[in-house]
Amino acid sequence: MTTMTDKETAALALRAPANAAEWQQVHGLRRRALFDDNPAYNENHPDDRNSDHRLLGLFLDGELIGTLRADLTHPVWAALRLVAVDPARRGLGYGVTMMQMAETFIKEKGWRQVRLHAKPDAIGFYKRCGYHLITWDEQARTPDCIDLGKHL
Ligand SMILES: CC(C)(COP(=O)(O)OP(=O)(O)OC[C@H]1O[C@@H](n2cnc3c(N)ncnc32)[C@H](O)[C@@H]1OP(=O)(O)O)[C@@H](O)C(=O)NCCC(=O)NCCS
Repeated sequence: MTTMTDKETAALALRAPANAAEWQQVHGLRRRALFDDNPAYNENHPDDRNSDHRLLGLFLDGELIGTLRADLTHPVWAALRLVAVDPARRGLGYGVTMMQMAETFIKEKGWRQVRLHAKPDAIGFYKRCGYHLITWDEQARTPDCIDLGKHL
């Protein structure tokens, strides 16, 4: 399997989209990877506008590789949501790297616990990232999700 080079890894940045074009890249990736091109996807969803919810893109020289949102609203746990890697870049280690960078970001903000609702297809990926089954009273928006967590 071809994987990221050290040079690519060093050039990766997990950050907020910097301009309208980068926001469009994020919305496009979410539509394709997570919403099945459903026209109901809302680019102005209030959950993305909450200042405690950090929508982040994994960028390589300005090109979007992946995206996720870190919700820092609960005092004890942070939630990772809407995790996706560009289909053309999957299987190369970007997903694991993006999760590690997100966890560093969350830890630097002062949180020590991360939770997420995992789609069944992605459970293997999250286990590879060190997540384990948890009990969580927050209801997932999509059915069949499994609740996973990790201590940082
Ligand atoms: C899940 C996703 C983010 C993984 O990103 P990725 O860049 O392909 O992941 P990586 O290349 O970093 O994979 C790392 C490891 O996880 C494994 N892995 C990746 N996807 C997996 C899956 N669906 N099931 C089991 N293992 C998986 C890889 O085999 C690899 O293991 P290895 O290092 O032992 O070879 C990506 O497949 C994706 O965007 N899927 C569609 C959206 C989605 O389902 N998001 C999750 C919503 S909860």
